[in-house]
Amino acid sequence: MISSTRAHQLRGAKHVVVFTGAGASAESGIPTFRDALTGLWEHFDPAKLATSDAYRDDPALCWGWYEWRRHKVVKAQPNEAHRAIADLAKRVPKLTVVTQNVDDLHERAGSQDVIHLHGSLHSPRCIDCGKAYTLPFTPEALPEDGSRIDPPRCTACHGYVRPGVVWFGEMLPEDAWSAGLAAAEECDVFLSIGTSGVVYPAAELPLRALGHGATVVHINPVRFDISGREHFLQGPASVLMQGLLSEAFGDLSAQ
Ligand code: APR
Repeated sequence: MISSTRAHQLRGAKHVVVFTGAGASAESGIPTFRDALTGLWEHFDPAKLATSDAYRDDPALCWGWYEWRRHKVVKAQPNEAHRAIADLAKRVPKLTVVTQNVDDLHERAGSQDVIHLHGSLHSPRCIDCGKAYTLPFTPEALPEDGSRIDPPRCTACHGYVRPGVVWFGEMLPEDAWSAGLAAAEECDVFLSIGTSGVVYPAAELPLRALGHGATVVHINPVRFDISGREHFLQGPASVLMQGLLSEAFGDLSAQ
């Protein structure tokens, strides 16, 4: 049950930050980052695959993994959590969506100006000269469990094309990080949805919000330790986000 306090705080908020992790896309059928990998990838640690070393060691294995993930995103649909987040933007004076996800499901649900801290599967670039590369919208029909795929070559310098995501050990895009940090430090309500909160600096954002007195609410089916000043709504994002909005703003379907 969503507490009326939480709903009241959301209703009266001036600036809400919605901070999402892989759990926000889980109900769209996108495996979370730390879900056990299957098929070709089941013996790999995602944290090892998502590195520039792995890519240089075996470009076809890594590019195949990212194309397999992109294929899942293209076939997926935004879920009720994405839609509730897009709807929330119409009900509060200011909403900033900051995501760790590399899919475009927030945008496809109607959210605008989404801040992607870890890049996007839809913005590959040359690993050598950085030139943007345009991928075919739907990747070739891929085997369900993925396959090795030789990466395309840059049209300018013939270098390998790499995924447009932030790999472990790489800096976050400066403009995305600055915008996410500014929003966390200005907001009065911070909803952290579907993230394990173990990867920094992204995981710093809820702490910054808490630090200046914002109401911080975690939404996750798996309970984890939080400080006494944070709130926890345990359950799936789609159910809890819809519940939070209808508690705060009434029956949404009627409006
Ligand atoms: N609703 C809400 N949360 C969910 C749901 C759901 N339906 N299903 C799973 N979760 C939660 C899990 O309990 C877990 O806490 O989503 C979280 C997903 O955690 P991770 O897989 O660690 O993903 P994330 O937190 O986004 O990882 C952060 O780490 O490796 C990097 O770049 C990668 O962006 C990723 C970042």
